[in-house]
Amino acid sequence: MTAAREIGVAVVGFGWMGQVHTRAWARLAHHYPDVPLRPRFVAVADPDAGRREQARVAYGYGAAVETCAELLARDDVDVVSVCGPNFVHREVGEAVARSGRHLWIEKPAGRSAEDTSAIAAAVHDSGVSSAVGFNYRNAPAVAHARELVAAGRLGDLESVDVRMLADYSAHPDGALSWRFDPEFAGTGVLGDLASHGFDLALHVGGEALGGVTALVADQATFIRERPLATGTGSHYARGGDGPRGPVGNEDTASALLRFGSGARGTLASSRVAVGEQCTYAIEVRGTEGALSWDFRRMGELRLCLGQDPLDAAWETRFVQAGDGDLAAFQPGSGMAMGFDDLKVVECRALVESISTGQPHGATIDDAVVAAELVDAMVRSYDEGRWVTT
Ligand SMILES: NC(=O)c1ccc[n+]([C@@H]2O[C@H](COP(=O)([O-])OP(=O)(O)OC[C@H]3O[C@@H](n4cnc5c(N)ncnc54)[C@H](O)[C@@H]3O)[C@@H](O)[C@H]2O)c1
Repeated sequence: MTAAREIGVAVVGFGWMGQVHTRAWARLAHHYPDVPLRPRFVAVADPDAGRREQARVAYGYGAAVETCAELLARDDVDVVSVCGPNFVHREVGEAVARSGRHLWIEKPAGRSAEDTSAIAAAVHDSGVSSAVGFNYRNAPAVAHARELVAAGRLGDLESVDVRMLADYSAHPDGALSWRFDPEFAGTGVLGDLASHGFDLALHVGGEALGGVTALVADQATFIRERPLATGTGSHYARGGDGPRGPVGNEDTASALLRFGSGARGTLASSRVAVGEQCTYAIEVRGTEGALSWDFRRMGELRLCLGQDPLDAAWETRFVQAGDGDLAAFQPGSGMAMGFDDLKVVECRALVESISTGQPHGATIDDAVVAAELVDAMVRSYDEGRWVTT
């Protein structure tokens, strides 16, 4: 085991993701004993007093402050997780990077491609490392899927179809949190889930897919008013019987995609899809085979390879020790990993980036790619036409 040095960790926004990032740092050396950095939990910034208390008492942060400025004024912070609502991302992300701290930022990294690009510029100008929360690419089955595509096992790619369907806002009394207000969130399901979908498609498809070159999109808002939120609450919080306010962004969005390789694709996303809980899934088809993965069965990759293309049958392959980072979590096939594990993998990639000075895993540049495609979907819908990207 190599000697590790300490790195001062801070988090801005200590809700669901702020806590998941912290748990990832805490577990990093359990899964990767040779990791060259060990976290020192320095400070959390969150306007909510309860969250600050939780950071100190349950997670062992030395300090919990109200604003990011107080946090960045410290000289013992080396890396900052930006996990506040989307409107916080740009101002804080730029400030973190320009202060010379490494940046771990949640998707969508701002409310628009303009925000994301500004954060990326700060990262590049300062030469710091970055990681972005595109966690689904970290699943070992997804890593194996990417390898199969890159090795040409599916033949020439014909289609990539991604579904990012959730029911977290399906109840009409779901609280009107920051997620429904363009001022605080930017887009709705587009930034929240379609951004993940683009990253997943492009990661699995890799160079063979050649990026998205054109798309045509549609979107809709079905639940137009919701009860006002009270206090902090998750995606899933219910509002009360009090006043209701308008929903300002889309519940559902979908697109037809054209890729540089000539392959075609679809992307469907919804936050109001009754019956769908985290249906985050991808199917890739080529002239010689197909593969299919669904986050809800994270350790399974469905494959249709090496057969006569007529009447070919699917088989289910459980992830194996050589797939992605499975071996850091489980000793063999068939033992499940969970959502939080994907964040440990993400943290490991960030540490690799910091230690080597070279990008590893999803970075702010991947967030720019996804944000530009989300912007393209908005433009296509607004203008009612195909747009090139
Ligand atoms: N990668 C993923 O799969 C994933 C999943 C969920 C959320 N996210 C992203 O993570 C981010 C946070 O989402 P969440 O679900 O953790 O939200 P959340 O509502 O659970 O937590 C947000 C926290 O930020 C705090 N906050 C509000 N204003 C702030 C400010 N000005 N400065 C600092 N903190 C502030 C809130 O008090 C709250 O504690 C979002 O951008 C979201 O898109 C990513």
